[in-house]
Amino acid sequence: MSEPLILGIESSCDETGIALVRGNELLFDAVASSMDEHARFGGIIPEVASRAHLEAMVPTLRRALNEAQVDLSDVDAVAVTAGPGLVGPLTIGASAAKALALAINKPLYGVNHVVGHAAVDKLVHGDFPDRFMSLVVSGGHSSLLLVDNIATDVTELGSTLDDAAGEAFDKVGRLLGLPYPGGPHIDRLAREGNPNAIKFPRALTSKKDQAKHLYDFSFSGLKTAVARWVESRQDAGEEIPLNDVAASFADAVADVLTAKTITACELHGVDTLVVGGGFSANSQLRDMATARCAEAGIELRIPPIRYCTDNGAMIAALGSSLVAAGVAPSQLDIPVDSSMPLTITHV
Ligand code: KG4
Ligand code: ZN
Repeated sequence: MSEPLILGIESSCDETGIALVRGNELLFDAVASSMDEHARFGGIIPEVASRAHLEAMVPTLRRALNEAQVDLSDVDAVAVTAGPGLVGPLTIGASAAKALALAINKPLYGVNHVVGHAAVDKLVHGDFPDRFMSLVVSGGHSSLLLVDNIATDVTELGSTLDDAAGEAFDKVGRLLGLPYPGGPHIDRLAREGNPNAIKFPRALTSKKDQAKHLYDFSFSGLKTAVARWVESRQDAGEEIPLNDVAASFADAVADVLTAKTITACELHGVDTLVVGGGFSANSQLRDMATARCAEAGIELRIPPIRYCTDNGAMIAALGSSLVAAGVAPSQLDIPVDSSMPLTITHV
Protein backbone atom coordinates (compact mmCIF):
# COMPACT_ATOMS: atom_id res chain seq x y z
CA MET A 1 0.00 0.00 0.00
CA SER A 2 1.34 3.46 -0.83
CA GLU A 3 1.98 6.02 1.88
CA PRO A 4 -0.66 8.62 2.78
CA LEU A 5 -1.07 11.64 0.49
CA ILE A 6 -0.66 14.91 2.41
CA LEU A 7 -1.88 18.31 1.27
CA GLY A 8 0.21 21.12 2.80
CA ILE A 9 -0.93 24.74 3.07
CA GLU A 10 1.39 27.62 4.02
CA SER A 11 0.27 31.24 4.47
CA SER A 12 2.20 32.66 7.43
CA CYS A 13 3.77 35.58 5.58
CA ASP A 14 3.62 36.70 1.93
CA GLU A 15 3.73 33.32 0.17
CA THR A 16 0.63 31.22 -0.49
CA GLY A 17 2.11 27.73 -0.75
CA ILE A 18 0.23 24.53 -1.57
CA ALA A 19 1.95 21.20 -2.01
CA LEU A 20 1.25 17.49 -2.22
CA VAL A 21 3.60 15.05 -0.55
CA ARG A 22 3.54 11.26 -0.26
CA GLY A 23 6.05 9.96 2.31
CA ASN A 24 9.33 11.67 1.40
CA GLU A 25 8.21 12.36 -2.16
CA LEU A 26 7.09 15.79 -3.30
CA LEU A 27 4.45 15.47 -6.04
CA PHE A 28 4.04 19.19 -6.68
CA ASP A 29 4.63 22.48 -4.94
CA ALA A 30 2.71 25.59 -6.06
CA VAL A 31 3.60 29.02 -4.67
CA ALA A 32 2.03 32.44 -5.24
CA SER A 33 3.84 35.43 -3.71
CA SER A 34 2.57 38.90 -2.89
CA MET A 35 6.12 40.27 -2.38
CA ASP A 36 5.82 42.67 -5.34
CA GLU A 37 2.86 44.35 -3.62
CA HIS A 38 4.94 44.96 -0.45
CA ALA A 39 8.23 46.08 -2.00
CA ARG A 40 7.18 49.72 -2.30
CA PHE A 41 6.36 49.80 1.45
CA GLY A 42 9.78 48.40 2.41
CA GLY A 43 8.21 45.59 4.45
CA ILE A 44 5.33 43.11 4.53
CA ILE A 45 1.91 44.73 5.10
CA PRO A 46 -0.19 42.03 6.84
CA GLU A 47 -3.52 43.33 5.51
CA VAL A 48 -2.24 43.32 1.92
CA ALA A 49 -0.80 39.81 2.41
CA SER A 50 -4.10 38.52 3.85
CA ARG A 51 -6.09 39.74 0.84
CA ALA A 52 -3.53 38.24 -1.51
CA HIS A 53 -3.79 34.85 0.27
CA LEU A 54 -7.57 34.96 -0.02
CA GLU A 55 -7.34 35.58 -3.76
CA ALA A 56 -4.54 33.09 -4.41
CA MET A 57 -5.71 30.19 -2.22
CA VAL A 58 -8.15 28.38 -4.52
CA PRO A 59 -6.27 28.98 -7.81
CA THR A 60 -3.01 27.80 -6.18
CA LEU A 61 -4.77 24.71 -4.79
CA ARG A 62 -6.20 23.92 -8.24
CA ARG A 63 -2.78 24.32 -9.82
CA ALA A 64 -1.13 22.01 -7.27
CA LEU A 65 -3.79 19.29 -7.70
CA ASN A 66 -3.63 19.52 -11.51
CA GLU A 67 0.14 19.40 -11.70
CA ALA A 68 0.37 16.56 -9.16
CA GLN A 69 -2.39 14.77 -11.12
CA VAL A 70 -4.38 13.96 -8.01
CA ASP A 71 -7.95 14.61 -7.04
CA LEU A 72 -8.89 16.36 -3.81
CA SER A 73 -10.65 13.14 -2.77
CA ASP A 74 -7.29 11.30 -2.97
CA VAL A 75 -5.87 13.42 -0.12
CA ASP A 76 -5.46 11.51 3.16
CA ALA A 77 -4.70 14.45 5.48
CA VAL A 78 -4.47 18.24 5.37
CA ALA A 79 -1.54 20.01 7.07
CA VAL A 80 -1.53 23.76 7.57
CA THR A 81 0.73 26.32 9.22
CA ALA A 82 -0.83 27.19 12.59
CA GLY A 83 2.04 29.53 13.58
CA PRO A 84 4.29 31.37 14.10
CA GLY A 85 3.59 34.12 11.60
CA LEU A 86 1.22 36.98 10.86
CA VAL A 87 -2.23 36.44 12.36
CA GLY A 88 -4.31 37.58 9.36
CA PRO A 89 -2.36 35.57 6.77
CA LEU A 90 -2.26 32.50 9.08
CA THR A 91 -6.03 32.73 9.53
CA ILE A 92 -6.69 32.62 5.78
CA GLY A 93 -4.67 29.40 5.41
CA ALA A 94 -6.13 27.79 8.53
CA SER A 95 -9.69 28.58 7.40
CA ALA A 96 -9.02 27.08 3.97
CA ALA A 97 -7.47 23.96 5.53
CA LYS A 98 -10.36 23.46 7.94
CA ALA A 99 -12.91 23.84 5.14
CA LEU A 100 -11.04 21.32 2.99
CA ALA A 101 -10.59 18.80 5.82
CA LEU A 102 -14.28 19.07 6.61
CA ALA A 103 -15.31 18.77 2.96
CA ILE A 104 -13.27 15.62 2.30
CA ASN A 105 -13.73 14.29 5.84
CA LYS A 106 -9.99 13.79 6.44
CA PRO A 107 -7.79 14.71 9.43
CA LEU A 108 -6.33 18.17 9.89
CA TYR A 109 -2.83 18.86 11.26
CA GLY A 110 -2.01 22.40 12.42
CA VAL A 111 1.80 22.54 12.26
CA ASN A 112 4.73 24.72 13.22
CA HIS A 113 6.15 26.81 10.37
CA VAL A 114 9.72 26.96 11.70
CA VAL A 115 9.90 23.20 12.25
CA GLY A 116 8.59 22.89 8.67
CA HIS A 117 11.70 24.75 7.44
CA ALA A 118 13.75 21.83 8.80
CA ALA A 119 11.27 19.08 7.82
CA VAL A 120 11.33 19.99 4.11
CA ASP A 121 14.88 18.68 3.79
CA LYS A 122 13.65 15.06 3.98
CA LEU A 123 12.04 15.60 0.56
CA VAL A 124 15.48 16.40 -0.85
CA HIS A 125 18.00 14.39 1.17
CA GLY A 126 15.79 11.58 2.52
CA ASP A 127 15.07 10.33 6.04
CA PHE A 128 16.62 12.19 8.96
CA PRO A 129 19.10 10.57 11.32
CA ASP A 130 17.89 9.82 14.86
CA ARG A 131 19.24 13.12 16.10
CA PHE A 132 20.25 16.25 14.18
CA MET A 133 20.75 19.98 14.58
CA SER A 134 18.81 22.50 12.53
CA LEU A 135 19.59 26.15 11.96
CA VAL A 136 16.51 27.96 10.63
CA VAL A 137 17.32 31.43 9.36
CA SER A 138 15.05 33.83 7.47
CA GLY A 139 13.62 37.34 7.55
CA GLY A 140 11.45 36.34 10.49
CA HIS A 141 13.41 33.70 12.39
CA SER A 142 16.94 32.71 13.48
CA SER A 143 16.66 29.60 15.59
CA LEU A 144 18.84 26.71 16.55
CA LEU A 145 16.89 23.48 17.04
CA LEU A 146 17.98 20.12 18.40
CA VAL A 147 15.76 17.55 16.70
CA ASP A 148 15.32 14.06 18.15
CA ASN A 149 12.14 13.43 16.18
CA ILE A 150 10.86 15.98 13.68
CA ALA A 151 7.25 15.01 14.47
CA THR A 152 7.36 14.91 18.24
CA ASP A 153 10.62 15.99 19.80
CA VAL A 154 12.18 19.36 18.98
CA THR A 155 14.18 21.41 21.50
CA GLU A 156 14.88 25.08 20.90
CA LEU A 157 18.47 25.61 22.02
CA GLY A 158 18.59 29.26 21.09
CA SER A 159 17.21 32.04 18.93
CA THR A 160 17.77 35.68 18.17
CA LEU A 161 17.13 38.08 21.02
CA ASP A 162 16.26 40.86 18.56
CA ASP A 163 16.52 40.94 14.75
CA ALA A 164 16.49 37.80 12.61
CA ALA A 165 19.49 37.37 10.28
CA GLY A 166 17.53 38.28 7.13
CA GLU A 167 15.91 41.20 8.93
CA ALA A 168 19.36 42.55 9.88
CA PHE A 169 20.43 42.28 6.23
CA ASP A 170 17.30 44.10 5.10
CA LYS A 171 17.86 46.90 7.66
CA VAL A 172 21.51 47.30 6.71
CA GLY A 173 20.39 47.23 3.07
CA ARG A 174 18.09 50.14 3.77
CA LEU A 175 20.80 52.19 5.44
CA LEU A 176 23.11 51.52 2.49
CA GLY A 177 20.36 52.72 0.13
CA LEU A 178 19.70 49.30 -1.46
CA PRO A 179 16.23 48.18 -2.65
CA TYR A 180 14.01 46.04 -0.37
CA PRO A 181 14.61 43.26 0.49
CA GLY A 182 18.26 44.18 0.89
CA GLY A 183 19.56 40.69 1.78
CA PRO A 184 20.35 39.44 -1.75
CA HIS A 185 21.87 42.84 -2.70
CA ILE A 186 24.25 42.79 0.26
CA ASP A 187 25.17 39.20 -0.61
CA ARG A 188 26.06 40.30 -4.16
CA LEU A 189 28.13 43.31 -2.98
CA ALA A 190 29.83 41.24 -0.28
CA ARG A 191 31.14 38.78 -2.85
CA GLU A 192 33.21 41.65 -4.31
CA GLY A 193 34.45 42.98 -0.96
CA ASN A 194 37.00 42.19 1.72
CA PRO A 195 35.39 40.49 4.76
CA ASN A 196 38.33 41.58 6.95
CA ALA A 197 38.22 45.25 5.94
CA ILE A 198 36.18 46.38 8.96
CA LYS A 199 36.04 44.66 12.34
CA PHE A 200 32.33 44.55 13.22
CA PRO A 201 31.18 43.13 16.59
CA ARG A 202 30.22 39.48 17.18
CA ALA A 203 27.42 39.70 19.75
CA LEU A 204 26.96 37.16 22.56
CA THR A 205 30.31 35.50 21.92
CA SER A 206 32.22 36.77 24.97
CA LYS A 207 32.80 34.33 27.86
CA LYS A 208 30.40 36.26 30.05
CA ASP A 209 27.60 36.36 27.44
CA GLN A 210 28.15 32.73 26.50
CA ALA A 211 27.41 31.67 30.05
CA LYS A 212 23.83 32.83 29.57
CA HIS A 213 23.40 32.91 25.80
CA LEU A 214 25.62 30.17 24.38
CA TYR A 215 23.15 29.44 21.56
CA ASP A 216 21.38 32.79 21.25
CA PHE A 217 22.03 35.40 18.58
CA SER A 218 21.72 39.17 18.50
CA PHE A 219 22.10 41.26 15.35
CA SER A 220 20.69 44.65 16.28
CA GLY A 221 23.97 45.90 17.81
CA LEU A 222 25.80 44.83 14.66
CA LYS A 223 23.32 46.77 12.54
CA THR A 224 23.91 49.87 14.73
CA ALA A 225 27.68 49.40 14.44
CA VAL A 226 27.36 49.39 10.64
CA ALA A 227 25.17 52.52 10.78
CA ARG A 228 27.72 54.34 13.00
CA TRP A 229 30.63 53.33 10.78
CA VAL A 230 28.83 54.56 7.65
CA GLU A 231 27.71 57.82 9.30
CA SER A 232 31.19 58.65 10.52
CA ARG A 233 32.58 58.24 6.97
CA GLN A 234 29.77 60.29 5.50
CA ASP A 235 30.34 63.06 8.10
CA ALA A 236 33.99 63.10 7.12
CA GLY A 237 32.95 63.46 3.47
CA GLU A 238 34.49 60.11 2.58
CA GLU A 239 33.09 57.67 0.07
CA ILE A 240 31.52 54.50 1.50
CA PRO A 241 33.25 51.33 0.29
CA LEU A 242 29.95 49.45 -0.14
CA ASN A 243 31.56 46.13 -1.06
CA ASP A 244 33.80 46.09 2.00
CA VAL A 245 31.01 47.18 4.36
CA ALA A 246 28.75 44.46 2.95
CA ALA A 247 31.48 41.81 3.09
CA SER A 248 32.53 42.67 6.66
CA PHE A 249 28.93 42.78 7.86
CA ALA A 250 27.98 39.49 6.12
CA ASP A 251 31.11 37.87 7.54
CA ALA A 252 30.14 38.88 11.09
CA VAL A 253 26.65 37.37 10.69
CA ALA A 254 27.89 34.12 9.10
CA ASP A 255 30.69 33.80 11.66
CA VAL A 256 28.36 33.96 14.68
CA LEU A 257 25.67 31.74 13.12
CA THR A 258 28.10 29.00 12.12
CA ALA A 259 30.34 29.17 15.23
CA LYS A 260 27.40 28.77 17.63
CA THR A 261 25.81 26.05 15.50
CA ILE A 262 29.00 23.99 15.32
CA THR A 263 29.51 24.37 19.07
CA ALA A 264 25.95 23.08 19.59
CA CYS A 265 26.63 20.07 17.32
CA GLU A 266 29.85 19.26 19.15
CA LEU A 267 28.45 19.65 22.67
CA HIS A 268 25.41 17.49 21.79
CA GLY A 269 27.38 14.89 19.87
CA VAL A 270 25.40 15.55 16.70
CA ASP A 271 26.98 15.01 13.28
CA THR A 272 24.21 16.20 10.93
CA LEU A 273 23.19 19.83 10.39
CA VAL A 274 20.11 20.85 8.40
CA VAL A 275 19.99 24.53 7.41
CA GLY A 276 16.69 26.05 6.27
CA GLY A 277 14.79 29.32 5.84
CA GLY A 278 15.10 32.01 3.16
CA PHE A 279 18.36 33.38 4.55
CA SER A 280 20.12 30.09 3.81
CA ALA A 281 20.40 31.48 0.26
CA ASN A 282 23.14 33.69 1.66
CA SER A 283 26.50 32.86 0.03
CA GLN A 284 28.62 33.93 2.99
CA LEU A 285 26.65 31.65 5.34
CA ARG A 286 26.74 28.75 2.87
CA ASP A 287 30.47 29.05 2.27
CA MET A 288 31.34 29.32 5.93
CA ALA A 289 28.96 26.52 6.97
CA THR A 290 30.39 24.26 4.26
CA ALA A 291 33.98 24.91 5.33
CA ARG A 292 33.38 24.67 9.08
CA CYS A 293 31.18 21.56 8.88
CA ALA A 294 33.78 19.81 6.73
CA GLU A 295 36.44 20.71 9.29
CA ALA A 296 34.30 19.44 12.18
CA GLY A 297 33.19 16.24 10.40
CA ILE A 298 29.53 17.33 10.31
CA GLU A 299 27.28 16.40 7.39
CA LEU A 300 25.67 19.59 6.07
CA ARG A 301 22.23 19.34 4.49
CA ILE A 302 20.83 22.48 2.80
CA PRO A 303 17.87 22.07 0.45
CA PRO A 304 17.79 24.04 -2.82
CA ILE A 305 16.69 27.65 -2.33
CA ARG A 306 13.13 27.16 -3.57
CA TYR A 307 12.55 24.85 -0.59
CA CYS A 308 14.27 27.23 1.84
CA THR A 309 11.90 30.13 1.22
CA ASP A 310 8.33 29.75 2.47
CA ASN A 311 6.37 27.07 0.59
CA GLY A 312 3.69 24.40 0.99
CA ALA A 313 6.15 21.51 0.65
CA MET A 314 7.66 22.20 4.08
CA ILE A 315 4.21 22.02 5.69
CA ALA A 316 3.21 18.88 3.79
CA ALA A 317 6.58 17.32 4.72
CA LEU A 318 6.01 17.94 8.42
CA GLY A 319 2.41 16.73 8.04
CA SER A 320 3.65 13.51 6.48
CA SER A 321 6.09 12.96 9.39
CA LEU A 322 3.28 13.54 11.90
CA VAL A 323 1.00 11.04 10.14
CA ALA A 324 3.85 8.50 9.90
CA ALA A 325 4.56 8.92 13.63
CA GLY A 326 0.92 8.17 14.41
CA VAL A 327 0.34 11.56 16.02
CA ALA A 328 -3.32 12.42 16.72
CA PRO A 329 -4.76 15.06 14.37
CA SER A 330 -5.72 18.59 15.42
CA GLN A 331 -9.26 19.60 16.33
CA LEU A 332 -11.16 21.57 13.70
CA ASP A 333 -11.44 24.54 16.07
CA ILE A 334 -7.68 25.10 16.57
CA PRO A 335 -6.60 28.74 16.72
CA VAL A 336 -3.59 30.20 14.94
CA ASP A 337 -0.70 31.32 17.14
CA SER A 338 1.47 34.17 15.86
CA SER A 339 4.19 33.35 18.42
CA MET A 340 3.86 29.57 18.50
CA PRO A 341 6.73 28.09 20.57
CA LEU A 342 9.20 26.07 18.50
CA THR A 343 8.97 23.07 20.81
CA ILE A 344 5.37 22.61 19.64
CA THR A 345 5.56 20.76 16.31
CA HIS A 346 1.77 20.64 15.90
CA VAL A 347 -1.37 21.79 17.70
O1 KG4 B 1 12.22 32.69 4.37
P1 KG4 B 1 12.04 34.01 3.68
O2 KG4 B 1 11.74 34.00 2.21
O3 KG4 B 1 10.90 34.82 4.34
C1 KG4 B 1 10.73 34.85 5.72
O4 KG4 B 1 10.08 33.92 6.26
O5 KG4 B 1 11.27 35.78 6.33
O6 KG4 B 1 13.38 34.85 3.96
C2 KG4 B 1 13.57 36.10 3.36
C3 KG4 B 1 14.72 36.80 4.04
C4 KG4 B 1 14.77 38.28 3.72
O7 KG4 B 1 15.15 38.98 4.87
C5 KG4 B 1 15.87 38.35 2.65
O8 KG4 B 1 16.52 39.59 2.59
C6 KG4 B 1 16.81 37.28 3.13
O9 KG4 B 1 15.97 36.24 3.62
N1 KG4 B 1 17.65 36.78 2.03
C7 KG4 B 1 18.99 36.94 1.98
C8 KG4 B 1 19.41 36.33 0.79
N2 KG4 B 1 18.31 35.82 0.15
C9 KG4 B 1 17.23 36.11 0.93
N3 KG4 B 1 19.81 37.51 2.84
C10 KG4 B 1 21.12 37.48 2.53
N4 KG4 B 1 21.62 36.93 1.42
C11 KG4 B 1 20.80 36.35 0.52
N5 KG4 B 1 21.29 35.78 -0.57
ZN1 ZN C 1 9.65 31.01 6.97
